[in-house]
Amino acid sequence: MTDLPAPLSLWIDTAPAPERGSGPPPGWADVVVLGAGIAGLTTAVLLARAGKSVLVLEAGRVASGVSGHTTAKVSAQHGLKYAELEARHGADAAKTYAGAQSAAMEWIASETGIDCAFTRAPSYVYTTQPETVDKLKKEADAATKAGLPAAYVKDVELDVPALGAVRVAGQAHFHPRRWLLGLAAEVERAGGTVLEHTRALSLDLRGRVVRTSQGDVEADDLVVATHYPVFDRGVYFARLDPVRDLVVAGPAVGNASLDGMYLDADTHHSVRAYTADGTPIVVAGGEHYRVGAESHVERRYERLAAWAGEHAGLHRVTHRWSAHDLSTLDGLPYAGRYLPASLPLWVATGFGQWGMTGGTAAGQVVAARILGEEHPAAALFDPNRFDARSVLSLAEDAFEVGRHLVGDHVSVLQQGRSLGQVRPGQGAVVRVGAELVAAYRAENGDLHTVEAHCTHLGCLVAFNDAEHTWDCPCHGSRFGTDGSVVQGPAVRPLRRHPR
Ligand SMILES: Cc1cc2nc3c(=O)[nH]c(=O)nc-3n(C[C@H](O)[C@H](O)[C@H](O)COP(=O)(O)OP(=O)(O)OC[C@H]3O[C@@H](n4cnc5c(N)ncnc54)[C@H](O)[C@@H]3O)c2cc1C
Ligand code: FES
Repeated sequence: MTDLPAPLSLWIDTAPAPERGSGPPPGWADVVVLGAGIAGLTTAVLLARAGKSVLVLEAGRVASGVSGHTTAKVSAQHGLKYAELEARHGADAAKTYAGAQSAAMEWIASETGIDCAFTRAPSYVYTTQPETVDKLKKEADAATKAGLPAAYVKDVELDVPALGAVRVAGQAHFHPRRWLLGLAAEVERAGGTVLEHTRALSLDLRGRVVRTSQGDVEADDLVVATHYPVFDRGVYFARLDPVRDLVVAGPAVGNASLDGMYLDADTHHSVRAYTADGTPIVVAGGEHYRVGAESHVERRYERLAAWAGEHAGLHRVTHRWSAHDLSTLDGLPYAGRYLPASLPLWVATGFGQWGMTGGTAAGQVVAARILGEEHPAAALFDPNRFDARSVLSLAEDAFEVGRHLVGDHVSVLQQGRSLGQVRPGQGAVVRVGAELVAAYRAENGDLHTVEAHCTHLGCLVAFNDAEHTWDCPCHGSRFGTDGSVVQGPAVRPLRRHPR
């Protein structure tokens, strides 16, 4: 199964949508929401339905970010989450978290007007390792205490030597882009506007003005739902950890469909089913790594495809894609005021690989707070909650950035590669005169060179051989081989280098 197609998300491929258009934004809106992913669009729908004039500005297309590159389990079971939450934040916090995730899932289920293949399925976290069995039993107890319909069970339907699993009944999966296109249409139906190809570049907080690639816009409230918060106030970049995951999908052997959704507690391999035109599809994820820390991503795809063929009944890979998600320092999302001061700036991020319910719940929290309403999880998800780890993390981040700035620089100089050594289809950071240049040679031999220092805080980018992107190891910004921003926190492209 080594013949892999070019990277393309199954969800984006199977839910085409006409361009929504860009152009100069209207000069003013009650609320401007940055980012048309699940967090941004959920916030936007709820506010537009409550009578606010809402403008959503999206740098790419609706669902072109992580929400279009997910596996889209809609579940309150988030790995081994509840034992950890209980130990760290107490049983009440675990219950509030579970309640918010379940309420988010039920809200999605209740929006029956959006045709997004929402399908109920039990969710499992299993182990094949004897030393993990006790952890699963504790997790089953903690999840039950938190209010989920959880139980410890022995059997799973995957072809793995499972020793036990935590099963949570009544969870779901869906088609994420169909869901998000439905939400965008709902925003418009409620009188709001969704503009694509409009990137927020900077913020004048006093004037409540956002500067975008298409012009300025003023708002009473501004919601930053850009995945990685794009404005460096609040130093979110030092409080979020980007972990990248790969996904492969294709028809199932013998057209057999899985009933449940699965996650290996130890390796984090993940599987769910999807049915396309009556054909059962296997969607499998895994092979996680820190963004920018791995150039040989192609090998990881091959390993994942082999695993899904052996254990999850994947017959052939028709689609593959990857994305990264962000984890917070204390395992709880950030949804609420961007800064401690009572400025009209809001944020929703840090869903730790569980943004289908997590991003929905965060959107519900932010919308409630803008409307002056209560939400049971508002205090728990408050981005400005005290966390002593934040201070330490800021220092660690500064150290990491410094380490990359110096260490990666030295290692490029030691490798001493030249432009002539970059082979077709490959990329490398090379020295040209006194400068370091990110050089990519296309299959036709054309050389594309851009500056090698990330436009966020200056770390050296690294080549990703599967996606053909330049990925930054410091906070996960990604750039095309032409230097364009693929994913933030960077907002400015890498400058072309004349050579
Ligand atoms: C491989 C993988 C599998 C996953 N599987 C699951 C799963 O099974 N279940 C689950 O619950 N979660 C899963 N997750 C996590 C989930 O997909 C994410 O938590 C969620 O999609 C994040 O949503 P978001 O709205 O924060 O970000 P996004 O969907 O990335 O939305 C942010 C949007 O902001 C836009 N943007 C960025 N910068 C700017 C700017 N400057 N101006 C304007 N717009 C901007 C982006 O283009 C993007 O569209 C998975 C994640 C990964 C990576
Ligand atoms: S993403 Fe922060 S330095 Fe590159």
